[in-house]
Amino acid sequence: MSDRRALLLDEVRKFHQDGQPNQPFIPGVTEIWPSGALLDAEDRVALVEAALDMRIAAGPLARRFESEFARKLHRRKAHLTNSGSSANLLAVSALTSDLLEDRQLRPGDEVVTVAAGFPTTVNPILQNGLVPVFVDIDLGTYNTTVERVAAAIGPKTRAIILAHTLGNPYPAREMAELADAHDLFFVEDNCDAVGSTYDGALTGTFGDLSTVSFYPAHHLTMGEGGCVLTSNLALARIVESLRDWGRDCWCPPGESNTCLKRFKYQLGTLPQGYDHKYIYSHVGYNLKATDLQAALGLTQLAKLDEFTALRRRNWRRLRERLDGVPHLLLPEATENSEPSWFGFVITVEPGAPFSRSELVAFLEDRRIGTRQLFAGNLTRHPAYLNQHYRVVGDLTNSDIVTEQTLWVGVYPALTDEMIDYVGTSIVEFVADRG
Ligand SMILES: Cc1ncc(COP(=O)(O)O)c(C=O)c1O
Repeated sequence: MSDRRALLLDEVRKFHQDGQPNQPFIPGVTEIWPSGALLDAEDRVALVEAALDMRIAAGPLARRFESEFARKLHRRKAHLTNSGSSANLLAVSALTSDLLEDRQLRPGDEVVTVAAGFPTTVNPILQNGLVPVFVDIDLGTYNTTVERVAAAIGPKTRAIILAHTLGNPYPAREMAELADAHDLFFVEDNCDAVGSTYDGALTGTFGDLSTVSFYPAHHLTMGEGGCVLTSNLALARIVESLRDWGRDCWCPPGESNTCLKRFKYQLGTLPQGYDHKYIYSHVGYNLKATDLQAALGLTQLAKLDEFTALRRRNWRRLRERLDGVPHLLLPEATENSEPSWFGFVITVEPGAPFSRSELVAFLEDRRIGTRQLFAGNLTRHPAYLNQHYRVVGDLTNSDIVTEQTLWVGVYPALTDEMIDYVGTSIVEFVADRG
C-alpha cells in the first residue's frame, strides 16, 4: 500500500473514532431502535478504500464476497444482488426457466407460502404469473407447519417458498423432505435468519435456493443488497443469467471469451458466430450490486459470528426478563433450532385488558421503537385484494398477528441497559394495566 493511501485510511480510522458520540444511555430519551446496522471503523475504511479505487460497478470485490459468503453459508454458489427482494425475484423466476425442461414452473402453477410475512417473499410468485397458495402460521414461533403445507399441496403445486420468521427457523429439514416427496422446488427466504440453525445445519442450506437481504436491519449489511445461494449448479447458472440481463454468457464483468468460443455459437435464429456476450437465453433483469456494497459486505461478514452471538444474548436476556408476564404471548424458538433472532415478537393475548396500540404507544413514548410483523395477513392489503390466490385452511393466526402482534429489537448494537429498559418498561405497562 502506498504511504499516501495508508495515511488516508489511517485518517479515516481516526475520523471514525472521533465521530463516535460517547453519550451515556438515558432511559426515555435515547432512541432504542428495533433494528439497525452496527458499523465500525473497518467498515468505514473498507468503503473509503473501495471509493479510492473507484470500484463503482460489480467487479472483483463482488466476486470475492460471493465466494466467501457461499463458503460461510455452506453453499456452492452465491450471487450478489441489489436487494433481498431482488434475490427472491431471481430465485422464483429461476424456477420458470425453460432450461429446467419438465420441472419448469409455468403460468398458473401454484406455490405454497404463508399469508403473514413480508410482501416480497410472495410478490415474485405473482410477478411470474404463478398462484400463491396461502396457509396460516402458529403463534409463538410465527412459522407455518409441515402439516399445513402438506394439506395445501394440490395437482398444480410446483414449489414452496417460506421465510424463517424473524430469525426463527421453521422445520426446514422436514419441509425439504416434503418438497422432495412431491417433486416440488423449495426456496428458503433466509433474509431474516442468516446464522440461524435447524437440526444442526444453517438455515438456507435445506432449500434448492435460498435468499438473503443486506438492508441495514438485517444480520449483515451493505446498505442495500441481497444474495441468492444454491448448491445446484444448473439453478446457479439460471440465476446469474436472469440477474445479468438474461445473457447466455457467463464472463465476469470486464472479461471476454472465458468459454474460448465467444464467436463460435449459433443459438436461437441468430447467425453463426454471433458474439456470445450479447446472446440472451432468458428475459432477464439487471439486479447486480456494486463493489462498494461488496466492500462493506466483506468487513461485515468477518463479524457474522459475533453478531449472531449478540442477537442471541439480547433475545435471551429480554425473554428471561419477561417470562411469566401475564397477557403476553412470548416468542418460542422452534424445537431443534438455534435462531439468530431478527427481533423479539410479542402478541397481546386476545382478551387482555389493554390493546396492542396502547402497548405500542407506551413504548414509543419511551423512545422504544416497535414494528409489526411486517404486512401481517397480506391478503387484507389493497395490493392483494384483486390478485388470484388460494387459501387452504383458515388464516386465524395471521389475523391475530395483524391485530395483536408487535416486535422490539435485539440487534447487536443494543446494550444490556437498553434491553433491560425495554423489559422493565413492558413489565411496568402490564402491571399498571393488568
Ligand atoms: C423475510 C424478508 N424477505 C425479503 C425481504 C426484502 O429484503 P430487501 O429489503 O433487501 O429487499 C425482507 C426485508 O426485510 C424480509 O424481511
